[in-house]
This record gives sequence, C-alpha cells and structure tokens, in this order.
Amino acid sequence: MKKVLILSGAGLSAESGLKTFRESNGLWEEHDVMEVCSASGFRKNPKKVREFYDERRAQLEKVKPNHAHEMIAKLKAEFKDQIFVITQNVDDLLERAGCKDVIHLHGFLPELYCASCGTHFNIAYKKQESTTCPKCKQPFLRHNIVMFEEPAPQYQTLYEALNQSGLFVCIGTSGYVLPVGHFASMCEHSILNNLDADPALDSCFDKVYTQKASTAIDQIALDIRNYLGGNYV
Ligand code: APR
Ligand code: ZN
Repeated sequence: MKKVLILSGAGLSAESGLKTFRESNGLWEEHDVMEVCSASGFRKNPKKVREFYDERRAQLEKVKPNHAHEMIAKLKAEFKDQIFVITQNVDDLLERAGCKDVIHLHGFLPELYCASCGTHFNIAYKKQESTTCPKCKQPFLRHNIVMFEEPAPQYQTLYEALNQSGLFVCIGTSGYVLPVGHFASMCEHSILNNLDADPALDSCFDKVYTQKASTAIDQIALDIRNYLGGNYV
C-alpha cells in the first residue's frame, strides 16, 4: 500500500502567528532558544522555563489553524493510514484543524507530564500551578516538551514511517535539528516547502515549493492525491 509521510516544522504555524526558531537569529519569542529549550537551561532556571511555557500556552489560545493545517487534516481524514502526520511543532493547531493521530516529536504544549510516574495531564492553555504530580504526589511535574539534551522517543516512529513511505513531504522546517535532506534520500519521491530558499537543502528534494505553506499546500495536496492515485509525475 502506497504511503505518504508529511513532516512539518515551525514554518507550518508561522502564518498562524507563532514565531519560527531561527528567523530571529536563534531567539524564540525574544528568548535564547538554548535557555528555554534545553535540559541544562531548565536545571539552571526552572522558574524562567516554566513561565516561558506558561506564556507559550497563553499565546497558543489566541491563535488559530491556517489553511495549511486544515488541508493536512482533510488529507488525513481522506487517506487515513496511508498518510503519516508527524510534526516537530508543540502547538495543537493540527488537532484544532481536526487532524487525527498527529505524532509530536518534540512534545505537546497543552500537556504536562510527571518525570516520576510518567502520567500526562492536559492543562490546555492554563499556567502550570505546581510541580507536584496530582497522581504520585512527587515534585516532578513539568512541561511536556522534549528539550535539547533530552531523548526524543517518537523519533523511532518517524524512522518507521520513513521506511514505509514512498513520498516524503517536508513543510516549514530548516533541517537544523532533523536531517530532512537525508530523509528525502530514503524515499522514492520527496517534496520540500519552505519560505526561504536553501540551495543545499533544496537540492536533496525532487520538488521544491519556495512559498508560504498556505499557498503551497494546495499543490502539495494535488501531488499527494496523484501519488496515492497512481499517477504521480
Ligand atoms: N511557510 C512555509 N515555510 C515557512 C514559513 C511559511 N509561512 N515561514 C517560515 N518558513 C520556513 C523557513 O524557511 C524555515 O526553513 O520554516 C522553517 C523554520 O525553520 P526553524 O525556525 O529552524 O524551525 P524548525 O525547523 O521547526 O526547528 C526545528 O528546532 O528549536 C528546535 O525543537 C525546536 O522543533 C524545533 C526544531
Ligand atoms: Zn507522578
């Protein structure tokens, strides 16, 4: 059975008003990424990191999915197990666009989890009020974000999807963290959509759409339909 992997990054949510990571030279919402996105930054200043994710959740409540999220949700509903939807994004915009079974490689902002008993708690867009786990009462409740220097268990699922997919679609990621250029060589066909041209990365893909995701997504949907329908060129 023909399968397609749609892998997305911060560029997918940029038009919804959520900043990407590297356009503002390594600052994420005016914070040094490594200070608020790394395990050492969290150990050094847990209060700052907790407040940072509280701000991100409050911001997330105010934004909404864009046309690209909606099209991906529609494709997933139409082609079900023939499409893997995997994202580096921690926002819930694909879910709010109605997309089912989204795999979040770097965590999920509306959730906390307990590092002691592993339980996840969905707090939606609220602040984290305490570090005490409601279930095991240990003081290890934290944001459910995979930070630099931490393991990303879902990468296993990503590699399984890559091995099963004949078409790799990559939307809105610089390839700074994930070797998406290499992923393109693992699949028979590959499509890249970014806003900024990057000749080195672009050359790894068969097709490149250098434009906003909300514009490119209509052509990408056509490509996916043609591929799954057996007439892909
Ligand atoms: N449409 C399509 N692509 C866009 C748009 C847009 N409207 N706006 C920006 N982009 C593209 C940029 O051209 C860039 O290639 O999105 C990409 C954003 O790259 P990054 O900021 O590096 O974000 P991302 O690749 O998702 O970062 C990966 O790094 O900080 C960690 O864990 C964090 O998941 C994140 C990971
Ligand atoms: Zn617990």
